[in-house]
Amino acid sequence: MNYRHGYHAGNFADVVKHIALVAILQHLKKKDTAFAVMDTHAGRGSYDLSGEQAAKTGESQNGIARLRGLRGEMPEALAAYLDLAKGSAYPGSPLLAAQLLRPQDRLTAIEKHPEEFAALKDTLSPFRNAVVEQQDGYARLPRLLPPPARRGLVLIDPPFEATGEFETLARAVAAALRKFATGIYLIWYPIKSQAEADGFTGEVLAAGAAKALTVEVKIAAPEGRLDRAGLLVLNPPYGFDAAMRAAAAVIASPMDAAIGVRWLAGED
Ligand SMILES: C[S@@+](CC[C@H](N)C(=O)[O-])C[C@H]1O[C@@H](n2cnc3c(N)ncnc32)[C@H](O)[C@@H]1O
Repeated sequence: MNYRHGYHAGNFADVVKHIALVAILQHLKKKDTAFAVMDTHAGRGSYDLSGEQAAKTGESQNGIARLRGLRGEMPEALAAYLDLAKGSAYPGSPLLAAQLLRPQDRLTAIEKHPEEFAALKDTLSPFRNAVVEQQDGYARLPRLLPPPARRGLVLIDPPFEATGEFETLARAVAAALRKFATGIYLIWYPIKSQAEADGFTGEVLAAGAAKALTVEVKIAAPEGRLDRAGLLVLNPPYGFDAAMRAAAAVIASPMDAAIGVRWLAGED
């Protein structure tokens, strides 16, 4: 467990993942009914972009830093994300979610690493409806499903430092779908080979997801650095594809990125 998200916070992949997270939560909030968010690999929740780890890689320079100058009318999810990410403390997924929840909603944020967990606990301490657990997110997830409200989002954002992470992830998603088939799933993956990424998304689809799309992004990264990443979204809420396309149309140029939204099953 050497991975520390502080080296990558606010990079191109975080930007796209976090806009997607905000878009899904905005949709869930359209109904008064409570919902649950389960973040299986939560990280520490807040990252100092002027700190040592961020400075070492400079990755946020190709991500959130490129969006600081955007002005004017903005698609809804992008506007809300930029507002939450405007400071030098970059918000990770559990903090973004905690800030967007209403009193009736619940967040369970799971983090395995002891130092990251301690920081996460601290970050989420002001939020009464957030529960923080130091656990293996894969092992814990099935026991949280289905959430009592039977509405909600599962975010799975592993570090991909272990060999076989794609297989572990696909098995975890298949098991989760058996318990909560109607949930929205937001799953992050790196793209080092398109065939590997397609193999993974195909395996998850075969597990029985009725509606699925991917959002894939590519940037011009320095040699040896990750330059492509994807999101597999199962049961995307109605209009999510349009929301992501609208955000992509604004951020692609400043980030010098190619962003594609592709339906795999059950197009709206
Ligand atoms: C990519 S980072 C998460 C970033 C976060 N989701 C965000 O968007 O701000 C992955 C995190 O998973 C943690 N982790 C690694 N293995 C884990 C496991 N089996 N269960 C839960 N957390 C784990 C790592 O310590 C790391 O903080």
